[in-house]
Amino acid sequence: MDDAARLMVTVLLTDRNGREVAVAARPGWSLMESIRDLEASVEAICGGMCACSTCHVYIAPEWVPRLPPRSYEEHVMLHDLPSFDPERSRLSCQIIVTEELDGLAVTVAPSSL
Ligand code: FES
Repeated sequence: MDDAARLMVTVLLTDRNGREVAVAARPGWSLMESIRDLEASVEAICGGMCACSTCHVYIAPEWVPRLPPRSYEEHVMLHDLPSFDPERSRLSCQIIVTEELDGLAVTVAPSSL
C-alpha cells in the first residue's frame, strides 16, 4: 500500500439507487469531492461554495454527534428544502474528511434540481 492509499478513509455511501458503495475519501478534502463523480450521487453544481444545496446528504444517526455542527450558512441552504431532515441533513461540501470519520455512513438525498 502506498502512502496516499494508507491515508484514505472509507465512507459508506448509499446512492440514489439505494446501492451501498464504499468510497475512498481523502482527509482534508470535502466529502463532496469524494462522492460527486459517482453514479447516482450528488450534483454539487456550485462546486462547493455552499450556494446550491445539490450536495445534500443524510448522515447516519450514529454519526451525527461526531460531526461538527452545521454553520449558519449551511443551515440556511438546507432548511427550506422539502427533503430537509433537521437531524441528519448536511451539505457534503461543508464536511471536511478527517481520519476520525473512517466508516462514516451517508445517504444521498433526493435531487433538488
Ligand atoms: S456543492 Fe453547492 S452547496 Fe455544496
